[in-house]
Amino acid sequence: MRRRLGKSDLKVNPIGLGTNAVGGHNIYPNLDEEAGKNVVRTGLQNGMNFLDTAFIYGPERSEELVGKVMKEFGRRDEIVLATKGAHQFKGDKTVFNNRPEFLKKSVEDSLKRLQTDYIDLYYIHFPDEDTPKYEAVGALKDLKDEGKIRSIGVSNFSVEQLQEANQNGHVDVIQSEYNLFKREAEKEMLPYTAANQISFVPYFPFASGLLAGKYDEDTTFNDFRSKNSLFQGEAFKENLRKVDEIRTIAERHGVDVPHVVLAWYLTRDSIDAVIPGAKKEHQVKDNLKALEVTLSEEDIQHIDHIFS
Ligand SMILES: NC(=O)c1ccc[n+]([C@@H]2O[C@H](COP(=O)([O-])OP(=O)(O)OC[C@H]3O[C@@H](n4cnc5c(N)ncnc54)[C@H](OP(=O)(O)O)[C@@H]3O)[C@@H](O)[C@H]2O)c1
Repeated sequence: MRRRLGKSDLKVNPIGLGTNAVGGHNIYPNLDEEAGKNVVRTGLQNGMNFLDTAFIYGPERSEELVGKVMKEFGRRDEIVLATKGAHQFKGDKTVFNNRPEFLKKSVEDSLKRLQTDYIDLYYIHFPDEDTPKYEAVGALKDLKDEGKIRSIGVSNFSVEQLQEANQNGHVDVIQSEYNLFKREAEKEMLPYTAANQISFVPYFPFASGLLAGKYDEDTTFNDFRSKNSLFQGEAFKENLRKVDEIRTIAERHGVDVPHVVLAWYLTRDSIDAVIPGAKKEHQVKDNLKALEVTLSEEDIQHIDHIFS
């Protein structure tokens, strides 16, 4: 099964692969790079074709490792490779930069790390404060005309910023946080993307693992999750209870919680693909099972209600 991204000619397996745990040493402590490469290999060998990385994962290292595995896989034309840029290091500070010259240089640098001639989808990772959004997107349109990128994305833009970015209709994809616990995008963003043929790619589809259905009240975390309110005290217990309700639906379909969660996102207008992250090979294979789930209208409403 393949779905088209925005107005582009890119066709993706709707179950993609997020790679911030592939060499993303600045996000997760003690990452094993071989395990990361195996995650990407497993995805490609099992029919995933949509890979999501970024300059800042590592930094740089995720792109390098993804590039190595892509090269080894060989069939470049079968892969839809997405990466992102906007982070700029200034002394010990990190700022966002969307100036055309910065974005153009960032794309050149990403191409080298990824060992490829073109990037299928390039996102402006975060908006900066002063570059007009249509000007930043204009730089990506130039790169598209030159054949260095094949489609244009933005990430973490508000709906107003997206409207400005898309004033000439050039934006194909927006990537923003969305999951069953964080549904703000439904108010204005998803109606706008649906009306303008822009694909919405949700990040944190499993709310950093919580919606994968394997945690219980005794689970503890030693990374950024220890500070995330979803994982704390009574809220954590209540969230686990909601996940248990999904488990009941999953059991009826003969699958597990993550499959139902991913299948539910793919029923939303303009969500054409999801990019769950994975740290282990079996998680990648497992997530592909979501393609086998067909939720009934009743299931869709029920899940909507549990998390409303
Ligand atoms: N644009 C942006 O600003 C932005 C921001 C964040 C992320 N992203 C992108 O979105 C992707 C997804 O986000 P994310 O990886 O941070 O969070 P996520 O997809 O919500 O959660 C991923 C985690 O869920 C667990 N998991 C995955 N599949 C599983 C399965 N089948 N069974 C059980 N557990 C499973 C793994 O965690 P454990 O093994 O640790 O439990 C995995 O690391 C990233 O990789 C990145 O590419 C983009």
